[in-house]
Amino acid sequence: MGQILVTGGAGFIGSNFVHFVVEHTDHEITVLDKLTYAGNLESLKGLPSNRVRVVQGDIADGPVVEELVQSHDIVVHYAAESHNDNSLRDPRPFLDTNIIGTYTLIEAARKHNKRFHHISTDEVYGDLELDDPERFTESTPYNPSSPYSSTKAGSDLLVRAWVRSFGLQATISNCSNNYGPYQHVEKFIPRQITNILDGVRPKLYGGGLNVRDWIHANDHSSAVLAIVDRGRLGETYLIGADGERNNKDVVELILEHMGQSRDAYDHVVDRPGHDLRYAIDSTKLRTELGWRPEFSNFEVGIKDTIEWYRNNEQWWRPQKAQTEAKYKNQGQ
Ligand code: NAD
Ligand code: DAU
Repeated sequence: MGQILVTGGAGFIGSNFVHFVVEHTDHEITVLDKLTYAGNLESLKGLPSNRVRVVQGDIADGPVVEELVQSHDIVVHYAAESHNDNSLRDPRPFLDTNIIGTYTLIEAARKHNKRFHHISTDEVYGDLELDDPERFTESTPYNPSSPYSSTKAGSDLLVRAWVRSFGLQATISNCSNNYGPYQHVEKFIPRQITNILDGVRPKLYGGGLNVRDWIHANDHSSAVLAIVDRGRLGETYLIGADGERNNKDVVELILEHMGQSRDAYDHVVDRPGHDLRYAIDSTKLRTELGWRPEFSNFEVGIKDTIEWYRNNEQWWRPQKAQTEAKYKNQGQ
């Protein structure tokens, strides 16, 4: 049994990871989370208090980080400013958290010789053409497009440099777009589901032909656990579940499952610099660590996710009006 420090454990993917670890292992977890607009303690409700404790704090706060890192066996680092649209409005918090926060954590991990796993994104690789037969692999050159993805790329490079120069015992994973419960209503899938529940038509950026490679958050969690358990130190693993779909298809599927006409959506102004397509080749993770996704049926996963938002309005409602107000200001 190990002591895991999970940064960002009150956010979407972090909280799904905490639930997953409690269900599938004996590890004990401390969540370190600043509880920004994206963090929600309700996402950790019902978890056993003898297995999970929460510390509210900033990953860029050296003394807090050092004390926590010192007293745990491993750090699994999810905390980030995570939303591209926010990074286009105000990049500064992305630098503070994604760059300085990551730096603060790896310095503490280096000093106390602790295992570190860095959670990152496929967006560090930029985007692909729609008809490109290649997908992203661990050797694809970095080419980020947005303030968000460039700060994530910067954080990955810091971890790589700490591995090489200081022998940090780290692994990195770059995952594709996640969906599932506890995702903030600013993100594409929950935004459209909760719009429809509110009687508002879904909003597609631009032509809606941009492709994302969807994976259920539980499959992301099982992949991270596999890397933490059996991954080779210093290595990067791409995580993906062969879930490519364009945004228009996803909106149509959601509308259909919610009993609406498939064309009951609006096109709105496009995101500046909008990446066209992401696609992950996860061969390394599958062959080296034997990982497989369990949620291979996207339609079933989307139905479950719709049901979750239907049944958990008290979780998302407090964030909805202010999120939509931000989008309205920019014609989205
Ligand atoms: P999220 O925005 O839902 O959650 C982020 C969490 O980090 C929140 O709980 C927030 O309070 C916390 N946080 C933010 N700044 C902090 C700080 N300075 N100190 C401590 N806590 C802080 O994000 P998410 O979608 O769950 O993403 C989690 C991680 O996974 C990020 O590193 C992101 O880059 C990565 N990722 C996300 C996706 C995706 O599809 N959402 C895909 C691949 C990788
Ligand atoms: O690929 C991994 C990344 O996936 C993560 O690193 C990010 O943290 C995560 O937010 C996500 O980034 P995207 O920008 O791909 O996700 P988002 O949910 O914001 O948008 C998904 C797609 O849907 C994208 O092409 C933009 C589009 N979109 C989004 C919104 C909010 C719309 O068409 N309409 C919308 O209202």
